[in-house]
Amino acid sequence: MSPATAKPVAILISGRGSNMAALIEAAAALDFPARIAVVIANRADAEGLAFAQKHGIATEVIPSKGKERAAFDAELDAALRRHGVEIVCLAGFMRLLTSGFVESWRGRLLNIHPSLLPAFKGTQVHERVLESGARITGCTVHFVVPEMDEGPIILQAAIAVPDDATPQSLAELVLAEEHKLYPQALGLLAEGRLRVDGNRVRMVG
Ligand code: GRF
Repeated sequence: MSPATAKPVAILISGRGSNMAALIEAAAALDFPARIAVVIANRADAEGLAFAQKHGIATEVIPSKGKERAAFDAELDAALRRHGVEIVCLAGFMRLLTSGFVESWRGRLLNIHPSLLPAFKGTQVHERVLESGARITGCTVHFVVPEMDEGPIILQAAIAVPDDATPQSLAELVLAEEHKLYPQALGLLAEGRLRVDGNRVRMVG
């Protein structure tokens, strides 16, 4: 159980949810400054839902298929408010959010991306890293802004690209770093230790 002051967090997923699981496990620590209030998926078949339920966390499915973006975001926003959420973590959430939604959660909405942003935005990241010949890659936790994979960077972790890496093996190496980085970044935000100054994030305290 996290402390009574722990900030209520929603995690948004579309699939496997391994970052969600890392956040749930971190938040189970007594002194973690955030607690996971709800996991919301935009697809009923998101595998991560089962893990959340097994850990006693409330889950909701808000199907996005065939729904107007604004209508989906309004439902999402209502669910977040119903659960008293103060911070939202996107974790493999494969649906673009409207700028209205993003603006209303600005400074409280985080995403994790499997590259060292601003390099390799978008999808097929590990394939493109290997094609580029880059020797270093990694992952980034950043505040979400309306433009995809942009927004002030909170934390990054870097790894060397092994000579024999495949997209799959690289994804696994990076994912292991993601699972450490996301809880750290959430902890900093929940403790109120992040100040955003333009594109730069400073740590205080
Ligand atoms: C992760 O690589 C994350 O960086 C990206 O999507 C993937 C989600 O994986 N945004 P998981 O669902 O957290 O296992």
